[in-house]
Amino acid sequence: MATSRRRLQPNSNLVQKCFEEDGFSQTFKNLLSSLPKAKGWLSPHLYNYEGFWLTALHLQGTLFFQHNFQSQESDILLVTSPKSGTIWLKAMVFTLINRMQYPVLSQEHPLLTSNPHDLVPFLELEYAQEKYPIPQKDSSLTSPRLYSTHLPYVSLPESVKNTKSKIIYMCRNPRDIFVSLWHYISKLRSQESEMIPFDEAFHMFSNGFTMAGPFWDHVLSYWEKSCEMPQKVLFLKYEEVKEQPLSHLRRLAEFLDCPFSLEEEERGLVDEIIKLCSFDNLSNLEVNKSGKTLFGNDNGVFFRKGEAGDWKNHLTDEMVHRLNQITEDKFKGSGLKL
Ligand code: A3P
Repeated sequence: MATSRRRLQPNSNLVQKCFEEDGFSQTFKNLLSSLPKAKGWLSPHLYNYEGFWLTALHLQGTLFFQHNFQSQESDILLVTSPKSGTIWLKAMVFTLINRMQYPVLSQEHPLLTSNPHDLVPFLELEYAQEKYPIPQKDSSLTSPRLYSTHLPYVSLPESVKNTKSKIIYMCRNPRDIFVSLWHYISKLRSQESEMIPFDEAFHMFSNGFTMAGPFWDHVLSYWEKSCEMPQKVLFLKYEEVKEQPLSHLRRLAEFLDCPFSLEEEERGLVDEIIKLCSFDNLSNLEVNKSGKTLFGNDNGVFFRKGEAGDWKNHLTDEMVHRLNQITEDKFKGSGLKL
């Protein structure tokens, strides 16, 4: 397998754009003013586009992504709702598909010096930075190209939906997502403005007002596609991967048509990949302790606890009940449980 490595430079303008909604064209501002809007978490507002809430910056990138991205059959798209363990999924899939080119135990392995977000770009953010950031033939991106997005299925470009390219979706239970999101946003906001009170943030989350939310609709859209097209969409749950990482990595490898050989199994490669991508390992690497993200924030903001069930330390019984109730109502009849 070849690499799909492409480094992006930290861009503090993105953060600024996110906070200020500044620098957009008049045409785009006209579009914004025609959309339903709600209070944002980092940006002043979220805008409802195709039934989901996006920041202005993400929306701008989404429109370019939808119009200009040409999917290839061999592409792999990683999709998550924010705080579902995106960075972990990026690390695992990058390491898996590039295991010939970058031996897992090599001191030169890209994960040792690059944050996974720098190795696997978010398409809507790439497109938000420049008009045509992904040329049709990008020599630095050889097949298979590995990308990520937070967009709901409805907003993916038609070419992604209509080719045989693969989609890997990872979800996480909404209780931990909310807790993780609140901590993450609080860290980012502390650099720019005051924190959103926990209760208010809970109200926003449970009413669907989050980036790429409503969370439940996002999850459900990919769940349904994974049932309809299991060869195209693989649906994973953070908690299950945490519990049985080896079998899920094998599942990922099978899905991507690069199963582990007997020889790889015997020399313990599956275990080595899991260790390389583990929370303890990644969060203690210098690049993730002191490096900067694309947004100009510390890489460390993406690593907090990396556990399933931390919600028990933060949510009231009432909050748990409310989230459980929404989950039950939204997923009724779908066969999905979180
Ligand atoms: P917590 O805040 O609950 O710790 P995302 O990458 O989608 O932003 O998700 C971030 C969440 O994934 C955070 O959850 C973070 O700590 C956790 N995480 C980061 N790296 C991880 C890893 N290697 N394994 C498991 N969880 C990880």
